[in-house]
Amino acid sequence: MSDYEYGNRCIPHPYALVGTQADSASDASYGRVVVPGEVDVTHGAILYLESVTVSFDGFKALNDLNLSVDDGELRCIIGPNGAGKTTMMDVITGKTRPDAGTVYFGQTIDLTRLNEVAIAHAGIGRKFQKPTVFENLSVFENLELALKMDKRAWKSLFAKLNGEQRDRIDEVLATIKLSEAAHGPAGRLSHGQKQWLEIGMLLAQSPRVLLLDEPVAGMTDQETAETAELFLSLKGKHTLIVVEHDMDFINTIAHTVTVLHEGHVLAEGDMATVQNDPKVIEVYLGR
Ligand SMILES: Nc1ncnc2c1ncn2[C@@H]1O[C@H](COP(=O)(O)OP(=O)(O)OP(=O)(O)O)[C@@H](O)[C@H]1O
Ligand SMILES: [Mg+2]
Repeated sequence: MSDYEYGNRCIPHPYALVGTQADSASDASYGRVVVPGEVDVTHGAILYLESVTVSFDGFKALNDLNLSVDDGELRCIIGPNGAGKTTMMDVITGKTRPDAGTVYFGQTIDLTRLNEVAIAHAGIGRKFQKPTVFENLSVFENLELALKMDKRAWKSLFAKLNGEQRDRIDEVLATIKLSEAAHGPAGRLSHGQKQWLEIGMLLAQSPRVLLLDEPVAGMTDQETAETAELFLSLKGKHTLIVVEHDMDFINTIAHTVTVLHEGHVLAEGDMATVQNDPKVIEVYLGR
């Protein structure tokens, strides 16, 4: 096992109800067995941040941040510029180490002990704002590369795609509505389509959690509407955490919205609740 794999470094979450060791992992009524390397979501939460603080030269970009996201949820994160939204994603993906606090993936995987590569392999995919597709390769080839970068497929990096892998790529192409563009160069796609292709490249690796930072920035209204549909179709199959300033977009997809301000959760709830929260109104209008 390579040094970044977490399996042998699994430690129980402080809240983990390991209880009596059951004879079989499926025998939930007698407790459960923590399977090394598997994401344990028996209590519902797939991501759990507690009292996370990140300081840059004394300035707290995250300040006692608490956040819990359920498995399969589509969580929207909003907040003014500098609220700490991107920093929060940096902490989840291991790009930035918190000065204090805990970050758990399921109940047993402590993300603060893993590096970025291990976190990606554990099942947390992140989409950056600027699309980074390979322009000279076809859409299909971009997805093929992404699929082969998945640790589970490494052995086949230089092998031809097998039928199952082809089916997976076709499935992703249909999900991101690029089936017809599959064999043309990615460089010819529109900005919005490139964003979808990049999301598809993440999906090819079957992530449990997808982090999307300002995914509709620069998209046309039509592309934005189609992205909303895409995200709603992914909800449940994956957990999505979406940071966006586009409130119409958030309104279309939102179930639970978390408002960040000065590195801390200011409000959380459905869209109507947070929109009518006096603290939220003050932060947005008082800018
Ligand atoms: N590497 C860094 N060094 C110093 N300060 C940083 C660093 N990264 C972020 N910050 C500061 O931390 C604060 C939070 O930044 P962050 O990028 O997380 O905000 P954000 O909510 O994503 O904002 P935006 O909506 O503009 O993208 C900002 O004041 C930013 O200047
Ligand atoms: Mg940001």
